[in-house]
Amino acid sequence: MTVHFIGAGPGAPDLLTLRGRDLIASCKVCLYAGSLVPEAILGHCPPDARVVNTASLDLDQIIAEIKTAQSQGHEVARLHSGDLSVWSAMGEQIRRLKAEGIAFTVTPGVPSFSAAAASLGAELTLPGIAQSVVLTRTPGRASSMPKGESLTNFAATGATLAIHLSIGNVDQVVADLTPAYGADCPVAVVYRASWPDERILHTTLATLKDTLDQDITRTALILVGHALQAEGFSESCLYSADYDRRYRPQTADSPWASWSHGDD
Ligand SMILES: C[S@@+](CC[C@H](N)C(=O)[O-])C[C@H]1O[C@@H](n2cnc3c(N)ncnc32)[C@H](O)[C@@H]1O
Repeated sequence: MTVHFIGAGPGAPDLLTLRGRDLIASCKVCLYAGSLVPEAILGHCPPDARVVNTASLDLDQIIAEIKTAQSQGHEVARLHSGDLSVWSAMGEQIRRLKAEGIAFTVTPGVPSFSAAAASLGAELTLPGIAQSVVLTRTPGRASSMPKGESLTNFAATGATLAIHLSIGNVDQVVADLTPAYGADCPVAVVYRASWPDERILHTTLATLKDTLDQDITRTALILVGHALQAEGFSESCLYSADYDRRYRPQTADSPWASWSHGDD
């Protein structure tokens, strides 16, 4: 018996990997984090599957569900929103499974930051503007931030910031980022990326607070950085006509001229 952790993606039921879909279809038990995982994804479960929304369960109760499935010899699909590598609470479940000697697999999902960038039609790393994306959050009621992982520290890098779980903390976002990024720095808020009621707000650090309305209270990502509106950025070398590279040697004496695809 195995527990299959599956990234369920940002919301749209077709933003799920084929592997994830097939695993869901093969499991007699499906435990899903109902606050963010769309019900449409549950349509992949077998008709007779036991489907449990874990939103109201605590960790002990979730592990009890898994042990019941184990005693019945049933595979478990465990669904969390987006990808499992960030803010999924998978780590604590895996620790319990290891202690119980229960096998598990992990299937990645489309994270909300990339779904949001897709909705914006934006590349978050533009040459000369930003070459890093920081996935972060502000402290919440149940989660403090480790020392050093402050927005002001990340702001010092100038990277594009994808700020999760923070739509209720915009005062802090604006206060912490404005000194480094400037009041006119572009901000995009993507509410429920890929859901039918998705909304996109283009604003700046100066106007962020006034742009938000009372409907946008959760499930929104705040993207901040100059890459969001940049137009005068340089082109990458990758597709530059005169850039000598492995796949496009420019001269007969290029170090790449004798390279064959079997070399690495
Ligand atoms: C508990 S975290 C889960 C993150 C998820 N594991 C991921 O890969 O994106 C929830 C936060 O992710 C962001 N989020 C998740 N789904 C989203 C979506 N469809 N649109 C915008 N933000 C989303 C929001 O910031 C939300 O507060």
